[in-house]
Amino acid sequence: SKPLKIGLAGLGTVGASVVRLLDTHATSLSARCGRPLQLVAVTARSRKDRGIKLDGVRWVDDPVKLATDPEIDVFVELMGGEGDPAKAAVEAALKAGKAVVTANKAMLARHGVAQAKAAEASNVQLAFEAAVAGGIPIVKTLRESLVGNEFSRVYGILNGTCNYILTRMELEGLSFGDCLKDAQRLGYAEADPTFDIEGHDTAQKLAILASLAFGVAVDPEAVYVEGISSIAPEDLRAADELGYRVKLLGVAVKTEQGIEQRVHPTMVPKTSAIAQVMGVTNAVAIDVDAAKEIILVGPGAGGMATASSVISDLADIARGTHVPPFGLPSSQLKPSAKLPMQHHEGG
Ligand code: HSE
Repeated sequence: SKPLKIGLAGLGTVGASVVRLLDTHATSLSARCGRPLQLVAVTARSRKDRGIKLDGVRWVDDPVKLATDPEIDVFVELMGGEGDPAKAAVEAALKAGKAVVTANKAMLARHGVAQAKAAEASNVQLAFEAAVAGGIPIVKTLRESLVGNEFSRVYGILNGTCNYILTRMELEGLSFGDCLKDAQRLGYAEADPTFDIEGHDTAQKLAILASLAFGVAVDPEAVYVEGISSIAPEDLRAADELGYRVKLLGVAVKTEQGIEQRVHPTMVPKTSAIAQVMGVTNAVAIDVDAAKEIILVGPGAGGMATASSVISDLADIARGTHVPPFGLPSSQLKPSAKLPMQHHEGG
């Protein structure tokens, strides 16, 4: 049957891994989706050799041109960055009636509501499983699997770089700077690692999760943010002596005043599930009325793990699954408000 024709923008760690997975898993994907997933065109900053197979795949110079290419059914945006060219390309694709798959949490946090509207207007999918917590299937868990629940809280470790730094500082007594350098070398950190260590990456992901769980418009301005840059090995030792670990948590919780969204270093009891999560691993804990407490743990960054989530979105599109990007028609999302911060103990 008719293949799903894919245009892919961005061949960094994640993009190259998507190309590899589409190739190595072609047979099983075709069987499971009922049609082949076919990469037909790519665009990237350079044409250097990345050790990936691109035989028969067209190179296009410009992301916007690729996004509206007549041959493609779906545009995969893996360039990153909250503004253009990613934003312009995604919006051009939606307008042209192409489905879009993106891992771009920064763009979605800022422009997700408007882009969801554009997707609805063109009756196409805007899918972003890869935008939050890498390989953990958290977007669809909140939006689809738990649709029969009322949410009271969603919280977790959403930045692999910070958790990697905190883990190595604690276990090996290394300095903050050395740990950050290693996280960058391993490809976990953002292009500008300030986004990781100052908590903004966590805040962007939290804003997306809060929207999916609570039906509020995604808005990073509604999140109180404090990062880990002022944490020293002594702080971790002091916490340890009291029976705690320090984790950078993102927390979205239903209160009488509305949905409170916050990101800050938090002391968690060493015996808790969240405290066991070490290294680049992420974890999301979900409190709901019917299914009670659910915790998903898995790789929060890295090429193959994130590519796994991109492929799951492509499979949805190939199968014809159709859900509103944030779980509700965008016109029904409630405004997000930043609540005054009170003093909080624990997660
Ligand atoms: N810089 C991010 C992290 C990558 O460390 O979690 C995945 O979004």
